[in-house]
Amino acid sequence: MTVLLTGGAGFIGSHTALVLLEAGHEVVIYDNLSNASRESIRRVERLTGLSIVFVEGDIRDTKTLADTFATHNIEAVIHFAGLKAVGESVSLPMAYYDNNVGGTVTLCQAMAAADVKTLVFSSSATVYAESRDMPLAESAPTGRPTNPYGTSKLMIEWLLTDLQRAEPDWSIALLRYFNPVGAHFSGQIGEDPAGAPNNLLPYITQVGVGRLPRLSVYGGDYPTRDGTGVRDYIHVMDLARGHLAALDALKARQGVQTWNLGTGHGYSVLEMIEAFERASGRPLPYDIVARRPGDVAECWANVEKAERELGWRASHGLDEIMRDAWRWQSDNPQGYRG
Ligand code: NAD
Ligand code: UFG
Repeated sequence: MTVLLTGGAGFIGSHTALVLLEAGHEVVIYDNLSNASRESIRRVERLTGLSIVFVEGDIRDTKTLADTFATHNIEAVIHFAGLKAVGESVSLPMAYYDNNVGGTVTLCQAMAAADVKTLVFSSSATVYAESRDMPLAESAPTGRPTNPYGTSKLMIEWLLTDLQRAEPDWSIALLRYFNPVGAHFSGQIGEDPAGAPNNLLPYITQVGVGRLPRLSVYGGDYPTRDGTGVRDYIHVMDLARGHLAALDALKARQGVQTWNLGTGHGYSVLEMIEAFERASGRPLPYDIVARRPGDVAECWANVEKAERELGWRASHGLDEIMRDAWRWQSDNPQGYRG
């Protein structure tokens, strides 16, 4: 099957492209390169020995989308494209609603015009309401996200649900990712944030290679086992395989399906630091500072529904996550730029 990956040059998209190619699918990547480079695509091609069709385009551009659907025999879309920096979304809300929500509307209209009605969407655990009851199942209530990025994800879930209700021949998967981390085991592709990382893992590995001086641990007084925040960190290769499983599962189902993609286990920030030190053999300098506004104490997934319905489960543990993240960072200290 030929699959269009919007945002496929980015972190999760590039790993998913690799998994799809290895499973025998054809891949078309559609990306405006606002947060990625073509080098990730070249490396996926080198790793697999297979080629990818690349279209440089924006999901808000109706004509380029229409040309892409007209030229390639696309049967399904995995929709990664969007802006994802939580803090930036607070100062630039319109950019987030325009790119993420507006872009999804334009994409769906182009899909409908091309009669392509199978869609896998990158949602996030951030849509869940704050809760003390862990783990979070798909049936847990969604909340009022604390930032425009999170709101844009929930709005997209709603608009896709409305679309499918109006046009029942759509098959849509809402994949709620927990904390995607790690890299392909080759160390050739990985996460390459522009500027200072917002997320814990790339921050840790950039301190590890000396690009940043120290890690700030946001909050040491949460009601958790060691006072630091707990999250469900999932290896990006497990996440990528989850997309393949979702595409397969959609063949047998119409409607909107929601699946958590996590591991079902939570680790604290201090446990992540220890795991990094084990993997790299280097001490990680850090300070415990004030909490970051908007952060929850704990968040991890109930993965039973994904296991049951997708026949999928995460297989890589924390030590593999750290080993692969560190291999990527130490082999590519400046990411794809060096
Ligand atoms: P990423 O920034 O590496 O990838 C997103 C890609 O989309 C980039 O290559 C970027 O150039 C492209 N893009 C952005 N706006 C576009 C537009 N208007 N038109 C075309 N291309 C555009 O991010 P990622 O970590 O790979 O995340 C992929 C998706 O998963 C995003 O939708 C993100 O919100 C979601 N998600 C990520 C995380 C995470 O922690 N990484 C967690 C939950 C959900
Ligand atoms: N943290 C630090 N220092 C840092 C960065 C993070 O201590 O420099 C802590 C945070 O306080 C939190 C944990 O590390 O306790 C994880 O933080 P991340 O920023 O890596 O991840 P979040 O859980 O805040 O958010 C991530 C994605 C969101 C997504 C969410 C879903 O960034 O896009 O997971 O759960 F919505």
